[in-house]
Amino acid sequence: MTGLHPRRASGTEGYSETADRLVEQYESRSFADVHRGLLPLFPAAPARALDIGAGTGRDAAGLAVLGHTVLAVEPTPEMRAHGQRLHSSPAIEWLDDSLPELARVRARNERFDLVMMTAVWMHLDEAERTRAMEYVAGLIVPGGLMTLSLRHGPVPAGRRMFDVSPAETRALAASHDLATVYERDRPSVFNADGVWWDVLAFRAPA
Ligand SMILES: C[S@@+](CC[C@H](N)C(=O)[O-])C[C@H]1O[C@@H](n2cnc3c(N)ncnc32)[C@H](O)[C@@H]1O
Repeated sequence: MTGLHPRRASGTEGYSETADRLVEQYESRSFADVHRGLLPLFPAAPARALDIGAGTGRDAAGLAVLGHTVLAVEPTPEMRAHGQRLHSSPAIEWLDDSLPELARVRARNERFDLVMMTAVWMHLDEAERTRAMEYVAGLIVPGGLMTLSLRHGPVPAGRRMFDVSPAETRALAASHDLATVYERDRPSVFNADGVWWDVLAFRAPA
């Protein structure tokens, strides 16, 4: 904490102020729809999942319905509160933590069958992405899956966002022995003008 104001995690700029509006947007699409192409790669239930930048918990809830247990990491208190209110489940544990350090997650000495970072990676700068990939790679079980999506196009007012390429992300993952097993760009899931997404998945060595 600094003075009266707790320091915001890098990348969360703009989320507290808009959480009440974003909750409708994020919950308007189903987990199955957003992750359609990735679902065949997901581990069989019951698996242990880590959802980093979990937002309002749409994906944590979708994973719980599939029979998985989820550690939902979300540093923006307003988003976390929406998630806890909307998706209360004994299969979901919420945690206030953030990339790149993930200090609280790593202190648990746990490994995950599935790590999801949906629409969060492009909020980190290059140095943060480098550090985050090392830490996240260390949280995946042998043979486990990591998925992420990268937003491109206009940056919403107040957000901190970088144009991150799939090539850079693949190379960073490869430097930690994570093999690319899925790559696709898709039209915007939110119909925002000029916004598109890359979706990537990586497999840890068995
Ligand atoms: C575009 S939203 C996506 C939310 C959710 N994954 C989804 O797909 O609906 C990005 C989320 O990442 C969170 N976030 C931003 N910076 C972060 C960081 N450094 N570490 C973890 N989460 C972060 C924000 O608070 C926000 O909830």
